[in-house]
Amino acid sequence: IPVDPFDLVVFGGTGDLAQRKILPALFRRFCTGHIPDSARIIGAARSDMTLDAYRAFCAKAIKTYGGTRSCEDGTVQEFLSRLDYVPLDAMGETGWPELVHKLEGCAAGRVTVFYFSVGPRLFGPLAERLRHHGMAGPDTRIVVEKPFGHDLESAQALNATLARHFAEGQIYRIDHYLGKETVQNLMAVRFGNMLFEPLWNSQYVDHIQITVAETVGVDGREEYYDRAGAMRDMIQNHLMQLLCLIAMEPPAKFDPDAVRDEKLKVIRALDAVLPHHIVRGQFEACLDPDHPHPSYRGSVGEPRSTTESYIALRTHLSNWRWAGTPFYLRTGKRLKARSSVINVMFKDAPHSIFGEEAGRHANLLSIRLQPNEGITLKVTIKEPGPGGMRLVDVPLDMTFAEALGPDGGDPPDAYERLITDVIRGNQTLFMRGDEVEAAWAWTDPIIAGWEARGDAPKPYPSGSAGPTDADLLMRRDGREWRGIN
Ligand code: BG6
Repeated sequence: IPVDPFDLVVFGGTGDLAQRKILPALFRRFCTGHIPDSARIIGAARSDMTLDAYRAFCAKAIKTYGGTRSCEDGTVQEFLSRLDYVPLDAMGETGWPELVHKLEGCAAGRVTVFYFSVGPRLFGPLAERLRHHGMAGPDTRIVVEKPFGHDLESAQALNATLARHFAEGQIYRIDHYLGKETVQNLMAVRFGNMLFEPLWNSQYVDHIQITVAETVGVDGREEYYDRAGAMRDMIQNHLMQLLCLIAMEPPAKFDPDAVRDEKLKVIRALDAVLPHHIVRGQFEACLDPDHPHPSYRGSVGEPRSTTESYIALRTHLSNWRWAGTPFYLRTGKRLKARSSVINVMFKDAPHSIFGEEAGRHANLLSIRLQPNEGITLKVTIKEPGPGGMRLVDVPLDMTFAEALGPDGGDPPDAYERLITDVIRGNQTLFMRGDEVEAAWAWTDPIIAGWEARGDAPKPYPSGSAGPTDADLLMRRDGREWRGIN
């Protein structure tokens, strides 16, 4: 279903995110016929570019990052003809009258979206200028990228600044993990099936593991990353969102506030993390002559940096459903494989009628978010053959690409889904201000704890599964990581 006519202004329209994600996502939506003819996309940035130069920039972005759905030249040209560009200074006055002029004359009630694809220090000035120039009307929506603050205090300040000019219902805080098809599938699996929900609690679940492993390093984002580290860059937002979707109570309906209220309750129920339940790491240089790269410290040019490129931790939820069930989270860069997976490990059967020699067998539900999106349920069956009642674990395996055909295997990019939702006015997959603050309120003391203790991250070889201490964290509990290790 095409969205209503809209005007979308991308502040930071020549930036990295616009190039890699926003413009290719809009183009792909255009190819699928979801963008109405009268829609307008206006890039705004400091560069004093002509419109032709901006269109050439976008054409290159689409070619490089458009993915498998790139269309023929004619379609690209048609898309480019929808684009406009305004050189604009977010902190000054240059360009604002031109932008006002371009947006004038649109019918009242037309959706106008301002995408803040810029650093957080510009959020306030942009919001103020939009208000000052009369562009912050009731039909206006703003999209705000992460990082949403550096800690609780800065997140509260950002929320307060935005709230001076926009209502919460107009603010779309993006966490692109929520736009991933498979992440939304977590809700479908949990709340669309009768099978899992009755077992989804501490009585039947032994523990839950969430892994987001990456093979990439921090190239091109060194300055930001060395201030953030894996805790702020990944745990506080993406892994926290996955944890919420896995642990939350069923909302009464799939509606923005019903879903976000339940997620907020999860974050607020998280226990403080004990120091011996955290492992931080930093990757070492890779000496492989085919793929050499420097160590973390070498990459960021800070020989004494104590920022973590890897973190593993164990936490708990103090609530009725999950009391006593550990949640293990881990994420890191330059690991051996790119793999995002959630493992729900069920408890052993309470009594084995097959005797001790049949061994221990527990069900495992693995939800693969990327790559090879799908679900595997490990079940126990009899080993075929005449050898008596010997048990063996086998996978019931489903990959979305096979089960759903080519369309299921090539789902829309997270940004396609999220931008469409902004235009439709659906905030379900966006973070509410109180959610972001609650996430920082949990994260801040953990970071303050290791800073006060002066804990240094453990080195780990590039291309490994992370520091060996992360395995110990599990082994101490008689458990092991699944997925990459
Ligand atoms: C971003 C982080 O939010 O997510 C990056 O800032 C990380 O450090 C990226 O690499 C991972 O996203 P994806 O979609 O590649 O899993």
